[in-house]
This record gives sequence, structure tokens and C-alpha cells, in this order.
Amino acid sequence: MKKILAPSILSADFKILGEQIRETEKGGAQYIHFDIMDGMFVPSISFGMPVLSSIKNLTGQTIDAHLMVTEPVRLMEDFVKCGADILTVHYEACTDLKADIDCIHSLGAKAGVSVKPETPVDVLEPYLDQADMFLVMCVVPGFGGQTFLPGSIEKIRQLRAMLDARGMEKDIEVDGGIHHSNVTQVLDAGANVIVAGSAVYHGSVRDNTERFMEILKDYE
Ligand code: DX5
Ligand code: ZN
Repeated sequence: MKKILAPSILSADFKILGEQIRETEKGGAQYIHFDIMDGMFVPSISFGMPVLSSIKNLTGQTIDAHLMVTEPVRLMEDFVKCGADILTVHYEACTDLKADIDCIHSLGAKAGVSVKPETPVDVLEPYLDQADMFLVMCVVPGFGGQTFLPGSIEKIRQLRAMLDARGMEKDIEVDGGIHHSNVTQVLDAGANVIVAGSAVYHGSVRDNTERFMEILKDYE
């Protein structure tokens, strides 16, 4: 499967956000991971529509919006209008997840479903056919720079096995605590879309991106 790097701008230097995003594109990253927080589903607040609109046409990268918000259906249309190509919602945040996935598709975007570390991946079973991507959170959502939770590996393996058993080749995204030193573990477990915030944006953005892409290429 295609291996994709999705640098999370949550760890970017916002004074020079545009320049830094361009560095990730030059380094080969295919996605921009855009973390939306509402101060309810997670304790913090990040950024929203105006920031998304202003980066939309900056590069040719896919905008991968991760909605850490309660009842994301309220905001889906706005985020797609502002430029999101993929909307990932949390299983724990939706009252009617099937309807929400349908809504994302009707807006013309790809739909992802995410689970927090304490949520088992079995809950995704009813949505395997319907959603385009599944996001396994490897830290408690809400902040960048946290430590990878080792229990995530088994969840990724289990989810990949669930998809393989049904003959489905769908994307498994992983998010939280991923660095150059542990990315091969999540790739080995079956993840193919790699979110990295601090590991890309702290230090040389171009070098960090290129180092990830070299590792990902070996897994193609
Ligand atoms: C956390 C966010 C992540 C975050 C990852 O709730 O969803 O996307 O930016 O940051 P790192 O890679 O530093 O753990
Ligand atoms: Zn995220």
C-alpha cells in the first residue's frame, strides 16, 4: 500500500506557517494534517476555518482534517468549503456516526473514523465498509509532543487483520508520538498514513520530512 506522511501543523511555528508547510511538500510529504480542537471533546483549542482557508492553495498537498470536536456534523460543511479533502471524526464524538460519514461523502470529501487509545478497534466493525480511512490515536488526543502508547501497536495489527479478512485495502492512519525511531513499528503493524507533528516541525522541517520519506519508501 502507498505510504503517506501527514505532518501535523499543530507543532509548526505559526509566524512562518506557510514557509514551513512548503518545506514539508519539498521534502515529499503528501498530506497536511490539520488538527481541529473545540475545547470540549479535548481540553484545548487549536485553529479553525480561517487558517484552513489561508493554507488551502499554498501547496498541492491533500488536507487531512482531524476533527477533535463534539458532534462534528455541525462543522463538516464549513471545513469542506474551506478546503478539507479528508474529514476524520471521532467515534466517541458522534451520536449517529453512519449519518455523519454519509454527510462527509455527500460533501465530496473522504471520511475517516478515529478511536481514542481507550476505545477498542472492534467498535469500527460496522463502519469498515463505509469509511475510507481509520485513525488509531497513539496518544490521548489534545496535545502534540506526547509519548507513544505501546498498546497502539496491537490495535493497528488487529484493525489491519479485520480489513484483510474482508479483502479491504483501506488506509490506517496513526497519530501521536511518532518519531523516526519508532515509525517502523507502526508500519510493520499495518499503518500506512503516518501523522508526525513535533518529529517534523521541531528542528529542520525539510530534513525531518526527508528522513521520514526515506523510511517510508523502504516500505512501498
Ligand atoms: C494530538 C493531535 C496530533 C498531534 C501529534 O491530539 O491529533 O496530530 O499534532 O503530535 P506529535 O506527533 O508531536 O505527537
Ligand atoms: Zn491529529
